[in-house]
Amino acid sequence: MVITRKVEFSASHICRIPELTDEENRNLFGMEANPHGHGHNYVVEVSVAGEPDAVTGMVMDLKELKEILNRAVVGPYDHRFLNYEVPPFDRVTPTAENIARDIWDRLEPRVRDPRRRLHSVRVWESPDLYVDYAGEAACSG
Ligand code: NI
Repeated sequence: MVITRKVEFSASHICRIPELTDEENRNLFGMEANPHGHGHNYVVEVSVAGEPDAVTGMVMDLKELKEILNRAVVGPYDHRFLNYEVPPFDRVTPTAENIARDIWDRLEPRVRDPRRRLHSVRVWESPDLYVDYAGEAACSG
């Protein structure tokens, strides 16, 4: 069974590769490369897979999941300029793809236990764009 919890944060970013010129960055990322940065209201859906506990009937205590999300994602990301304030985005371009991977890396060890595992992370950068990530194994095909 898979349960999903949603959280939101607001953050600014610039999508730009330092080794490229301004024009090359504009060609690659469009307005996302604007050096002043811009904000998004990100929505993150975190899914946990497991079997419901025989006593509680829950795959995971939703209060505990909420606390993990607040501590590991909302706290570090909310109202930050990702490129300047949230490693690894001082050296990794903060695309929705890379944000999904970073959130996965932050959550996976905190969620894992013998009865459950992190199933997927979905990051909505805008109402018409989202990225799904389910760990490296899902990509090795
Ligand atoms: Ni953007």
